[in-house]
Amino acid sequence: MAEPLLRELSTVSLYERLGGASGVRRLVDEIVEAHMRNPVIKARFLPYREDPERLDATKQQLCAFFAAGSGGPESYTGRSMPEAHRGMNIGEAEYMAATDDILSVMESHGYHADVRKDVLAIVYALKDEIMRA
Ligand code: HEM
Repeated sequence: MAEPLLRELSTVSLYERLGGASGVRRLVDEIVEAHMRNPVIKARFLPYREDPERLDATKQQLCAFFAAGSGGPESYTGRSMPEAHRGMNIGEAEYMAATDDILSVMESHGYHADVRKDVLAIVYALKDEIMRA
């Protein structure tokens, strides 16, 4: 009896709903591009254009972070959120701009509202660790 009930209750992980490793990679690529176009935060990201190796390494960390945080098999070995953003003095408007980019890219790729809501919950939970870290 217990098994069908458990199957019934089990949900597909957020990682799978994001499209696994390749879905996460595509999102990260496009979100970083969106940050580079977003007038509120582009100054923070445009310098990475001049340093493709660093850009690639940062994207790699972002992929691992989102994959591990959404239930994927990857592990994240990068810095904590306060460490990664320390000294940047990120304000509310910048945090909102980054969040908007994440949600608009997801929307443009047709991710269901439930998936976007789950990602928003994670991003929101990290707000205090990222802002004015
Ligand atoms: C909205 C939620 C956010 C999440 C989940 C997030 C997550 C991350 C992660 C996982 C890294 C890589 C850490 C590492 O390389 O060790 C990173 C790096 C970075 N983040 Fe964020 N971030 C967020 C918001 C922001 C905002 C609002 C800004 C600035 C406006 C920002 C600017 C940066 C920059 C410039 C780096 C590169 C740091 C470096 O290369 O030293 N982030 N972020």
